[in-house]
Amino acid sequence: MKFLNAFIEDCRYYDLNKVELKNILKYVNVRNKTVLDVGAGIGRLAFPLSKYAKEVIALDNGKRFMPYFKKHKKTNVKFVNKSMEEYVKKTLKKFDIVLLAWPTFDFKMINSVKSSMNKDSKLIFITCDNNSDYETIPNKLRVLEKAVFNKDVQNKGKILKKLPKMFRVMVNRKLKTNYKYPDKKTAFRIIKNGLKLWFNIKLDKSNKVNLIALINKHKKGNKIIFEEKLYFYVLELK
Ligand SMILES: C[S@@+](CC[C@H](N)C(=O)[O-])C[C@H]1O[C@@H](n2cnc3c(N)ncnc32)[C@H](O)[C@@H]1O
Repeated sequence: MKFLNAFIEDCRYYDLNKVELKNILKYVNVRNKTVLDVGAGIGRLAFPLSKYAKEVIALDNGKRFMPYFKKHKKTNVKFVNKSMEEYVKKTLKKFDIVLLAWPTFDFKMINSVKSSMNKDSKLIFITCDNNSDYETIPNKLRVLEKAVFNKDVQNKGKILKKLPKMFRVMVNRKLKTNYKYPDKKTAFRIIKNGLKLWFNIKLDKSNKVNLIALINKHKKGNKIIFEEKLYFYVLELK
């Protein structure tokens, strides 16, 4: 399956209760504000936030997202195909709100984020807890050794620890949400593709049998549910 389709499908069944969006709107005043969504992907949060914000820059260094933004045009959402590091070199613009949702963990990138903030800017930082149901799938399928973790995953713990030193913490909450699939077949297809997408893991025949067994354990009513625990921060410059 193509990267973009796999990405779109993965987002389709995640956080259907909009826990992330509701918490952003609860803790940060988005109305008429300028928003920089760093590593926006397909604009999973950029588009809903644009209903309230003045403008949203959806920044992503992946050019494979370009066709998605061309198809889903909105006047106050602009896709910029640059890395955060490149972007801050080219623009001195400061944003009211900077969003880092499920970011890659790179100190250079976080430092670039600071350059796009002023003293009143809010940085919203959302990431998953590595002990969540979804994140522990590779371990449970015993394919962890196949996983290709880039340095950002290893940096995650370090960055979470350093956040209070780097920024003033305004809000620090643990949130609960989930991936909710309509049936086993859909769960199997999307998790299999997701493992390739997020961890570069290709399942063999026996791994697939184990995935079916794991999915069966997550059956709740007629849905398949994998819980996600999230770190949710609102930060300001110190
Ligand atoms: C896990 S995805 C999160 C997408 C989106 N924020 C969401 O929550 O649905 C991380 C995204 O960050 C992008 N990315 C990684 N490093 C980046 C950088 N230095 N500058 C801009 N985008 C980056 C990747 O291309 C990817 O689309």
